[in-house]
Amino acid sequence: MAGTLFTVGLGPGDPDLMTVKAARIVGAAPVIAYFAKRGRTGHARSIVEGRTHPAAEELRLEYPFTTEVALDDPRYAAEIGAFYELSAGRLADRLDSGRDVALLCEGDPFFYGSSMYLFDRLRGAYRSEVVPGVCGMSGCWSQAGMPVAHGDDVLTVLPGTLDEATLTTRLQACDAAVIMKVGRNLPKIRAALARAGLADRAIYVERGTMPGQRISPLSDFDDGPAPYFSMVLVPGRQRPR
Ligand SMILES: C[S@@+](CC[C@H](N)C(=O)[O-])C[C@H]1O[C@@H](n2cnc3c(N)ncnc32)[C@H](O)[C@@H]1O
Repeated sequence: MAGTLFTVGLGPGDPDLMTVKAARIVGAAPVIAYFAKRGRTGHARSIVEGRTHPAAEELRLEYPFTTEVALDDPRYAAEIGAFYELSAGRLADRLDSGRDVALLCEGDPFFYGSSMYLFDRLRGAYRSEVVPGVCGMSGCWSQAGMPVAHGDDVLTVLPGTLDEATLTTRLQACDAAVIMKVGRNLPKIRAALARAGLADRAIYVERGTMPGQRISPLSDFDDGPAPYFSMVLVPGRQRPR
């Protein structure tokens, strides 16, 4: 009988924020699959360090890009599609041999997670279970001590890869905001926040819940390169009750 695909959310970085269920599945899985950038350990893999089964096979799925490639770059769709296809095939080989596979994902798998692309490809052919995780943004606003949405506040989650005009329009319409995928988009995000009148409320969080965590008002953070694991938070209206 074929194995089961477990798509496992691991939380924002602190291993203590992994769910009991995720830890149980990771500790028992005969195959552990995870994405990683070239030359890196892989963030999801580092969260489970020391928690996998000693005999587990590790299936490292290495992205074809060393730096982020823009979504509208013609190279992107072709190369990333082929990569996901190949990766799904590698997981299918293990599942066909009857072994369960735990596919690791930082945060929650169904929230901007790459593991969704393998889940989509394999879900029809194999038994599959998805284990939700604490989102990165939840870890970040908790560490920042920043209650995010109150009463009828509208919380808007935006990828920083959007263009400045779209970011501005969306920010103008929200009460609270989370801007993900900051990295080299930071100057554009800062400009959009200023145009929406939210620059003074914005909080910058780098590596939330992880070693090297950094939290400050965005206005105190210079425009130096922000790392991949960074986000900008805007608290809601915070009306007193
Ligand atoms: C591809 S998305 C993955 C989101 C993940 N599935 C989740 O549930 O949070 C990656 C983006 O999430 C944000 N992120 C996730 N965890 C984070 C953390 N611990 N600290 C700061 N940013 C984080 C960053 O903006 C990063 O660029």
